[in-house]
Formats: sequence, C-alpha cells, structure tokens
Amino acid sequence: MAWRPDSWRRYEARQQPDYPDPAALAAATRELAAYPPLVDGADVAALKAALVEAQAGRAFLLQGGDCAESFAEFAPETIRATHALMGAMAATIVGGAGLKVIRVGRIAGQFAKPRSEPLEEKDGIALPAWRGDIVNGIAFDAAARRPDPERMFRAYAQAAATLAHLDGLAGDTPFFTAHEALLLPFEEALVRRRGDQVYASSAHFLWIGDRTRFEGSAHVEFARVLANPIGIKCGPTLKPDALLRLLDLLNPAHESGRITLIGRMGAAIETTLPPLLRAVAASGHPVLWCCDPMHGNTMRTASGAKTRPLERIVAETLAFFSLTAAEGAIPSGLHVEMTGRDVAECTGGAEALTEADLAGRYHTHCDPRLNAAQALELAGLVAGELNRNRRAPMRRAAV
Ligand code: PEP
Ligand code: CO
Repeated sequence: MAWRPDSWRRYEARQQPDYPDPAALAAATRELAAYPPLVDGADVAALKAALVEAQAGRAFLLQGGDCAESFAEFAPETIRATHALMGAMAATIVGGAGLKVIRVGRIAGQFAKPRSEPLEEKDGIALPAWRGDIVNGIAFDAAARRPDPERMFRAYAQAAATLAHLDGLAGDTPFFTAHEALLLPFEEALVRRRGDQVYASSAHFLWIGDRTRFEGSAHVEFARVLANPIGIKCGPTLKPDALLRLLDLLNPAHESGRITLIGRMGAAIETTLPPLLRAVAASGHPVLWCCDPMHGNTMRTASGAKTRPLERIVAETLAFFSLTAAEGAIPSGLHVEMTGRDVAECTGGAEALTEADLAGRYHTHCDPRLNAAQALELAGLVAGELNRNRRAPMRRAAV
C-alpha cells in the first residue's frame, strides 16, 4: 500500500498516549504541520553521506545524550555541557584511533519515552505512566499525568531553541540531532518535502525503539520512506529472520548510510549478536553496526533506583568489538546515555562510584547516564579497540 505521512495509522501503534481530548490533539497537530522544519533536508542528506563513510570503517558514529530531555532542566549550560562532552569523547577517539567522528546528540527532541507499564501505582493509586515531557508531566498527580497535546508546542520550541544554541557552538564541526521517533502524531506533523523526497524534520536521525520495531509496527511503516538515516534498536529478542524482513521493508534499495543497527543486548550479546551479524552479511544489506551498551545493562539498587555498572557497559562494548571482528563486520558506532553534568547515576569508573554514592547526585528523568569521567573512560576504551582493529591486518601480515 502507498505510504503517506499518516499511513502508520493503519498499523499497530504501541506506546502511544491515550489523549483524553482527540479534537485538541487534531488541532495541535494541524497547527504543527504548518510550522517550519526543525532541521534542514540538506543537513539530513549530509549526515547520511557521512554515515556511508562510518559504515565503511573510514569514520565513527558517536551518539550520546540524555535518556530523556526534560522541560524542567532546559538550560544553555546543560546543552553546552553535552556538546562539550561529545567533543571531548570525539577528540579521544580521533586522537586514539585517527578516525573522523560523526557527532550525533540525543538532543533537541528526545522527549518521548516508551514505558514497560501503561500505569504507575503508588499507595494504592494508579495513574498513567509518565511518557516523556512531550506527552505528560512526571509529577505523580492526576492533572500532571493527563496526556496534553499542548506539550508538543513546548517540545517544538525547546528543540528549536536547542538547535539554535547548538548552531552557535558548532564552529566548523557539524553536530547532528537524533531521538526515538516514538510519538507518531508529532512526527507525522513534522514530515516535510525536499524535492521528490520526504523527510522527518524533527531531527536529522531517527531511531525505532526495541519495543516498537516488531513486525507490523506503525513505527516501522512511518519510517519506511523517509530520507533520514534510520536506527533500529536491536535487543536480545530480535531474531535474524525478523531483522532481515525489517531491512527489506526499511531499505529495499540497499542504500548505504540509511540503516544503523544499534545493538543493545546486555549480557546476552555473546549469543544474540553473532546470528544477526551473520544473517545481515549473508543478505547483502549494507548497515552500520553501532553498540548501545546501556539499555541491556540496567538494574535496580537495593533501594530500588535504576543504575548501570560501568564494568558491564565496558564488557558489552568490548564484546561488541570482538564479535564484529570475529564475523568480519565493521564496528562503526557507539550510542550512550551520558551527561556533562556531574551526576552519579551509573556505578563504577575511576571514581569507583558505589550504590551509596548515587543518593546525592542522581538527576536523570529516566535511565541512568554516564557522567563525564565515565563517558571519557568509555571513549578511551573505544579508541583503543578501534586502533587495535585497524592494526590487526598488519599484525596478521607480519605473522
Ligand atoms: C532509549 O534509547 O532510551 C530506549 C528506550 O532504548 P531501547 O528502545 O533500546 O530500550
Ligand atoms: Co534510555
């Protein structure tokens, strides 16, 4: 069937809010559809061209930022801190591995979150789960949790202001934006044309989350013909044949730079990634292999807070490099949740943060992020692995 910005409506759309006032939702998206694009189609094309280089091993994709941006923490200092940390991580990789780094922030639009439960219960009261600031408020009261389409305008305004601020910081190095394309009425309203192509103007790069990449998903239908580079989160339940069907749907022309596969396997990586690497290689689909060592390594502390031990993040990253090497695939990207703010949300690292340290410096609105020291430690490790990979052919030749 023909694709249209709204053809996703004929498919199963998971993780969408239940807006109590559909007329207000329709009015809001009609208005947004007339707004200027947040990002330029030419920049989207430039990112895709850069990703072709990364896919071939001549550059490296670095994606990072908050799990969820929030309205409350919107501040130029926060934007600058994320931008600076990405720059420092990129410099570590450039310096250590001599590879050009493509910087893509989880920023200027990372406002919608998939949730494991539609309701949250506290003291016998059940309210709709918080689905990100673009949908409802995080405070546990009925008024805040009511999905409100007016929030889309605030998200649009914050994204526009963030992009403007990033532009001022960019210098000569481009900085691209990305988020999970989760809230489909919002994404649909921001679809724009560029020549004979359509693209999502909400960000340069969009990804489909692990909970919405199933077959028959409205999110897959929405992304199908967009000119943007598209990421697919690949969790441990993704089977090789299902992945190949997704690739046939999302990239029928086998265009390079279009698809980034973001593995987020956790401890299961040793058994779950190799079958995907083999199946994709045998299919001839060109993809960029990227590692998200965060989302498969989330656990609860004794007091119930979410955390991620850095040693597990490191272990998955190292496994990603060795498993891709073993299958002859190119490890081309790292996707992390991190912040330039001085937080203690993930344990471990040079500071040896323990669960007890999390209490005072735990600020995330969603998943635990690496702080600057932890993120730089991981970037150093990635630089070392890339460097080793690049020298491997020489070493083999010398044997
Ligand atoms: C995320 O990136 O914040 C996220 C929810 O990821 P995943 O879909 O991989 O769980
Ligand atoms: Co997250």
